[in-house]
Amino acid sequence: MSQAQLAQRIQALEESSTLGMTKKARELAAQGHKVISLSVGEPDFKTPAHICEAAKKAIDDGFHGYSPVAGYPDLRMAIANKLKRDNNLEWGSENIVVSTGAKHSLANAIAALINPGDEVIIFSPYWVSYSEMVKLAEGTSVIVQGAFDNNFKVTPEQFEAAITPKTKMVMFASPNNPTGSVYTESELRDIANVVARHENIFVLADEIYEYINFTQGGHFSIGSIPEIKERVITVNGVAKGHAMTGWRIGFIAAAKWIADGIEKLQGQVTSGTNSIAQKAAVAAFNGSLDHAYEMKAAYDRRRKLVVEKLREIPGFKVNMPDGAFYAFPDISYYFGKTDGTTLIKDSDDFCSWLLADAFVATVAGSGFGAPDCMRISTAAADEQLVEACDRIKAAVAKLK
Ligand SMILES: Cc1ncc(COP(=O)(O)O)c(C=O)c1O
Repeated sequence: MSQAQLAQRIQALEESSTLGMTKKARELAAQGHKVISLSVGEPDFKTPAHICEAAKKAIDDGFHGYSPVAGYPDLRMAIANKLKRDNNLEWGSENIVVSTGAKHSLANAIAALINPGDEVIIFSPYWVSYSEMVKLAEGTSVIVQGAFDNNFKVTPEQFEAAITPKTKMVMFASPNNPTGSVYTESELRDIANVVARHENIFVLADEIYEYINFTQGGHFSIGSIPEIKERVITVNGVAKGHAMTGWRIGFIAAAKWIADGIEKLQGQVTSGTNSIAQKAAVAAFNGSLDHAYEMKAAYDRRRKLVVEKLREIPGFKVNMPDGAFYAFPDISYYFGKTDGTTLIKDSDDFCSWLLADAFVATVAGSGFGAPDCMRISTAAADEQLVEACDRIKAAVAKLK
């Protein structure tokens, strides 16, 4: 018996590169090295107290049993209200399905809509799991590359050129992981115009970084554009904006027939998600957003700090991210260089070498569809970020 017995769909999957680097960093830290881990996409803040209190109350109040498959009614209502308040999206409770994190919501939406052979256009750089989710659904990913000089954003012309009769969906995150780029309202309207011209295309809009947006215009939801509203599946959750990664609550908001399809799928696979976390999420969606603004201010300060430090490193090219908590420098200047022992051929080599040499954990851009870059999470204390950048600068000085 061996791994060869695993189903082909599992053998064909890539390991998550972000989780892979985090694992290596933990191993080195366990050996006693002073590792600075900037590989994981996770707020370094605690979940706000009022949300934790709601979870404690849910336990005391006896929410111990199975919940409805699509989520508790009060949670779905709280999400519908949040979508009206923040996103100009008019959906009722019946349009919402709560799942085990936005990752699960995305996978559900893809599984519910994609047939074998359907094409899914993915704006690249993209979050590592998108293409693997499409693979699991036996769809074909069509990667469309945003240029560094356009802040890694895909233009409507590029998008339209990638459309074929097999295109079923386009998916992207704004604010983006890994680039931190934010599509403006006008850019999203231009993309929506393309979608409007192709009536069989659905939009999977990943808005998990909604509250971490530093642009003047703020967040805009493409699903709020009436012409395409029925074909937009909006995905969001509590992980990033409310510092609740471990609670595992995400949701989709979409036309009722799509929500019903996802509920049907979920009913056979996971059932309703964790009851206590759902009650905590009600408090998050109904409560004040003060904590989200405080965290945003910290991420804003850190992105400026990190970008300034990274720009001092010879050969690094880096955009100022407009959202999320990542810096995404182009490091290709160092490809083909060596410290005398290790030859750096690509971003995977660079990040592995950096971890071994400087004990700074980052993630190679290759897994995100950007092989010239590396992702640095800025969700860490300012001092750690400064020290990490100093270590990187000292390390690359050895590469000739
Ligand atoms: C772009 C993007 N979408 C979705 C998720 C998943 O969020 P959740 O923790 O709610 O599953 C992440 C998490 O890293 C992400 O970066």
